[in-house]
Amino acid sequence: MKKLLSILMVFALLLPVTAAFGQDDMMEQPLVGFWEQCPTPENLPETVNVGAIFGLSEAVAVYGTAQQNAVQLAVDEINASHYLGESTTLVVMFEDSAGNRDQAIAAMTKLVEEDGVVAVLGPTLSSEAFAADPVAQENSTVVMGVSNTANGITEMGDYVFRDSLPEGAVIPGTIAQAAEILGLAKVGLFYGNDDDFTVSGYEVFKAALEENSIEILGEETFAKGDVDFNAQLTNLIAAEPDALVVSALAAEATQIILQARALGYEGPIIGGNGFNSPAVLRDSGADSEGLIVGGAWNYGNPNPSESSVQFVEMYEAAYEMSPDQFAAQAYTGAWLMATAIRCADSTDRTDVRDALAGIADFDSPLGVFSFDEDRNPVHDPIAQIVVEGKFQPLALVMGE
Ligand code: ALA
Repeated sequence: MKKLLSILMVFALLLPVTAAFGQDDMMEQPLVGFWEQCPTPENLPETVNVGAIFGLSEAVAVYGTAQQNAVQLAVDEINASHYLGESTTLVVMFEDSAGNRDQAIAAMTKLVEEDGVVAVLGPTLSSEAFAADPVAQENSTVVMGVSNTANGITEMGDYVFRDSLPEGAVIPGTIAQAAEILGLAKVGLFYGNDDDFTVSGYEVFKAALEENSIEILGEETFAKGDVDFNAQLTNLIAAEPDALVVSALAAEATQIILQARALGYEGPIIGGNGFNSPAVLRDSGADSEGLIVGGAWNYGNPNPSESSVQFVEMYEAAYEMSPDQFAAQAYTGAWLMATAIRCADSTDRTDVRDALAGIADFDSPLGVFSFDEDRNPVHDPIAQIVVEGKFQPLALVMGE
């Protein structure tokens, strides 16, 4: 903890650097990553419909609301800039899946089989994606996850893409960095055992801990919807770990932070992607200080792409709040989808799939973005630590 406190003090000196980020050079042009590569389409209809399935109610709404905001922002820019041609308007049909697998299947079936959308963004949770994406695949329709981080998502088929880095691309680097900084030798591992994403995160954490020769003193589990974690936390804390390593979605993550602190645990907590929401920090308050979480995008990145700066400016102007990683990925996903439609110059679902698979070196808020041959994203992750209630780049805090 002493080490952690000294990290936090170093960070306080660096605060002006991050506060200045993003204020100066807002570009007037909309983000147009593929403007040069593909000419303005000539064969698109007046209206192009795409679907978006997000968790807009229940606990998952902490992610889904940011996703909906970001997609709408991107679509407004796409239409204002006539990215799909002078007389073509892109329309997004939003569906609420509420974090529920059956609701996600129903939403996907409606969009793909009844509404005839060209492609679909979402659903928010990996567990929903594993349930609903087969409907898109069976109908030869692109579905692009913008927050699915469980390993194995795109293995569902060649129409399944994602722009969200899987846990396997983020956690190993976070653990290696945290191990070095905090000198971790032994940890307690805690995860939800009934959710595809939390189980996947657990597996990746476990492998990364073993890779770094960090001893796992104990493992405990919980189920989605649980509210009392005291018994498991008491067991884990009793073993005197150097850190608690947790794979959980936002609602459970928040309670785990609060209850661990209430039990007197003062050491570091290292979380997976589910922790990566400002809502977790807001709801756990000062107890979240020092939380370490890997991510795909960070507001305070000291070297943001121009697109990232522009995205932050536009999101803040539109919604009077700062975007989070989920918003950055959803915004990028909408632009990638529009770019595929633009490059296909067609609403044929297979043409759009092929155009999407061909996107590489796309200038986005996530950085220069490409899909790999398995339709997973290729770009750099960023390890973060919570300082003064905000996710800050770990490297910046360490002054590297
Ligand atoms: N990253 C979380 C998931 O994949 C939201 O379920």
